[in-house]
Amino acid sequence: MRVLIIGSGGRENAIAWKISKSPLLEKLFCAPGNPGTSSLAVNLNIDIKSFDAIKSAVLDNSVNMVIVGPEEPLVNGLGDFFKNDESLKKVVFVGPGSEGARLEGSKEFAKDFMFKYAIPTAGYKSFNRESIEEADRYIDSLKAPYVLKADGLAAGKGVLIIDDSLQAKRELREILSGRFGSAGDKVVIEEFLSGIELSVFVLTDGKNYLILPEAKDYKRACDGDKGLNTGGMGAVSPVPFADADFMSKVESRIIIPTIEGLQKESIDYKGFIFIGLMNCNGDPFVIEYNVRMGDPETEAVVPRIESDLLSHFIALGEGKLEREKIEISDRFAITLVMVSGGYPQNFEKGFEISGVSELTGEMLFHSGTSIKEGQLVTSGGRVIALTALADGIQSGRERLYSLAGKISYNGIFYRSDIGLDIL
Ligand code: AMP
Ligand code: GLY
Repeated sequence: MRVLIIGSGGRENAIAWKISKSPLLEKLFCAPGNPGTSSLAVNLNIDIKSFDAIKSAVLDNSVNMVIVGPEEPLVNGLGDFFKNDESLKKVVFVGPGSEGARLEGSKEFAKDFMFKYAIPTAGYKSFNRESIEEADRYIDSLKAPYVLKADGLAAGKGVLIIDDSLQAKRELREILSGRFGSAGDKVVIEEFLSGIELSVFVLTDGKNYLILPEAKDYKRACDGDKGLNTGGMGAVSPVPFADADFMSKVESRIIIPTIEGLQKESIDYKGFIFIGLMNCNGDPFVIEYNVRMGDPETEAVVPRIESDLLSHFIALGEGKLEREKIEISDRFAITLVMVSGGYPQNFEKGFEISGVSELTGEMLFHSGTSIKEGQLVTSGGRVIALTALADGIQSGRERLYSLAGKISYNGIFYRSDIGLDIL
């Protein structure tokens, strides 16, 4: 296979790392990729917002499989573009079309879908500028805290959890008046669920599915889950409370009805479904769907997959995922994200990174790095994701933090408690 991975983060680096080991791989490309993927693949410096640029890259390099990392191209219809273009029709496309991508692209669509197919989720209603007073009444009928979600994609910032009802009503008006642009033309207000979160990942061809290792991410910037929300400061897999009993509830109450629901809606879905779940006293509830893998969850999930992911993708393209069996290591994967000081708020970039070459052979995935005058430098908030695979969480943590100590750059910051809560 000649495979093109779209994206440039740690998630794409981890997928590239895994695919590069497959005997079924002929040549790997990443667009645009990053300094981490450059040693595994040919990086193609194209604008991934341009479908025509992606098409040229595919045709020029005789690519026959495209794997999409981030959600934006999927929500914007890259999958439909491939399906409808004569010269691209035969390319295996790992990711849903725009209809399926609405599971992530529209909170209202996702909630309506779950309601229709009796998939457990928090009670909700959705509102627009014309129904503000009704929204106020709905807020008054709920108990604090109040959960407000901008309907569309808002760069991970569109969910607000507010303790005070007056504040919730003020924030509702701000979102509806454009704080998140058109993503906030509608707002979903939902009941607050309390419990422990985890993420479950499914690969489906629309009928059959494989359940990938589950993971838990660490969203807050600082130790003890303090500080601002981030894209993710670390991840662990497996998640100890996700035992066989819990996972069988996830499968029967959520995964199967989701895939059957997609079929009933005539949505041809070939790709990942990332299900954000809350474990409420042993029962799983869906917080959100994403139509891609998570970052940094992928950096913990992929190292535990022992079977050939590329073989799974080929079967997915043929609609024959039933012939594949996923093999998962029972070792613990722990991922630490090293960030730029100040992230997720303002931070400086362009600082030289040292120590990376000492970690050759380790699972070091680049997120926000670039090469400037031959030197590896920081270029984003999340800079490097480092993963250790070990027989226990404690030994994994020791190994991870000893590796992390070898990396340095100006303003380096990372949490020191990844995995500590599940010891
Ligand atoms: P999302 O952007 O949908 O991932 O939501 C961000 C975070 O908000 C989630 O990871 C949860 O921690 C939290 N959250 C979302 N919906 C709810 C809910 N109904 N109850 C409690 N927490 C929620
Ligand atoms: N780490 C959360 C996400 O990828 O959405």
